[in-house]
Amino acid sequence: MNTSIRNELFRSGPKVGENRTKNALLLTATSTTEAQEGDNNAKALKRTLSAQRESEYTNAKEFPRNDMSEFRRACEKVKQFMLGDNELKTIRDRLLENMRRGLDREGHKSAKVKMLPSFVTHLPDGRECGTFIALDLGGTNFRVLLIDINEEQIDMDSQIYRVPQECMTGTGEALFDHIAKCMSDFINRMGFADRNIACGFTFSFPCEQYAINSASLITWTKGFSASDVEGKDVVTLLTEAVARRGDITVEIVAVVNDTVGTLMSCAFEDHACQIGLIAGTGSNACYMEKQSNITKLDELQDIDGKMCINMEWGAFGDDGALDEWTTEYDRVLDANSVHPTKQRFEKMMAGMYIGEIVRLILLDMCKEGIVFTEDALEILETPESFGTHMVSQIVDNQPRHFAAVQNILACADIGAIRRDCEIVHMVCDAVSRRAAYMCAAGISAIAIKIHQNRPDEYLDITCGVDGSVYKKHPTFAKLLKVKTNELVGLGIFVNFRLSHDGSGKGAALVSAVSTR
Ligand code: BGC
Repeated sequence: MNTSIRNELFRSGPKVGENRTKNALLLTATSTTEAQEGDNNAKALKRTLSAQRESEYTNAKEFPRNDMSEFRRACEKVKQFMLGDNELKTIRDRLLENMRRGLDREGHKSAKVKMLPSFVTHLPDGRECGTFIALDLGGTNFRVLLIDINEEQIDMDSQIYRVPQECMTGTGEALFDHIAKCMSDFINRMGFADRNIACGFTFSFPCEQYAINSASLITWTKGFSASDVEGKDVVTLLTEAVARRGDITVEIVAVVNDTVGTLMSCAFEDHACQIGLIAGTGSNACYMEKQSNITKLDELQDIDGKMCINMEWGAFGDDGALDEWTTEYDRVLDANSVHPTKQRFEKMMAGMYIGEIVRLILLDMCKEGIVFTEDALEILETPESFGTHMVSQIVDNQPRHFAAVQNILACADIGAIRRDCEIVHMVCDAVSRRAAYMCAAGISAIAIKIHQNRPDEYLDITCGVDGSVYKKHPTFAKLLKVKTNELVGLGIFVNFRLSHDGSGKGAALVSAVSTR
């Protein structure tokens, strides 16, 4: 059956459609019946048919099939997520302005985009070597790695440990004791317990740094809120936790943000890499900036040199800069989050939030009778019942293959008909697309900023990326690349390169560069 006819049939509802089918059968029957049983029967049948038609029209009036209007109502709600290039350029330019302010001696005091100096001034050049422990803390999992860097090659082993919810939101001491325990367990398993080993710490939260091995937490983000850590040096807290155990000897020689780690590990393989991006549970980027542009730095290390800036772009919009594009769903998500009013840009695009935004839209649509039946309400009312992994799976299917979407929804105990599946697909696609485009606006702002340092040259750079959204979402990476290059303008090209285990490896590389 051709698709348009099939869709047409789907537009006619059960009542009208049922009758149509019955009518078709009766009409087929008409010719045989007429021949066999004569005019009387035929007349009776005609009467029945016209009565049925009449009731069909009455039913149609009583139960208007609202498929089109339900679909349209869904489209109306989703429309606000579709950002055009002009809007994205405005977002890009506002971020550029925020970046300048964040680097400025006076402006940075009130800047929401913190533009934090990382004290990483050199990218790896292949001369690095040594064996290091690396720690990677930033999401629900914590990783400990043993990394051996040798002759442009990196060998590694690692173990993933869970960070229990009570550690994320309990006391800082309990959190750092847990980290030290996992470190000790891993170092013992690797047979390094009796060695003094240098350690690079990837700590994926905004930190004020004064040196490569000291970082004071400005504020927790994502799902973390452990007490008594904000304002403290996380290297000291970890060193104290290790000392409390007394069973391993490690020296933390470098602390880096995951974006910086990603940039470092990507630059190890690709010397054109100047941007690091995390598109995962959280979202953030870093890039190499001319030190002379970082006017807020008290002491420049090298006036002609560069320094990697951890932008902490997640906080872009916390002063209202994104209000025009903030939907009612973003506002509800923010109000219910662990850190209300903070990280507004991140909340529009990170893996921790994409599924939640979709859930809130579907909940609203379900309440208004646009999708599902009220049986779905209980599930949709449950926070985090619609994971970002489900959004990825749904977008991975074409809307017309609605059975696959139906199965994904069935796994979450949501019963759906075809129209529901089509609407759910549209919502997932729109929320994912906005996330990728927002991210593209951010990367294009960075590329333009770097280009402003060398406006007479063609800028062909690489952005190293890590994070579950980039790696696992079926369309995010492609949308990001295409849209970034549409937004950068002439004379700039940004390539994207997946940086496997970037954030962990990067901490070891920074340690290696700093002990070079
Ligand atoms: C943090 C950043 C981090 C990003 C990705 C954000 O919530 O503030 O420091 O780089 O998540 O993990």
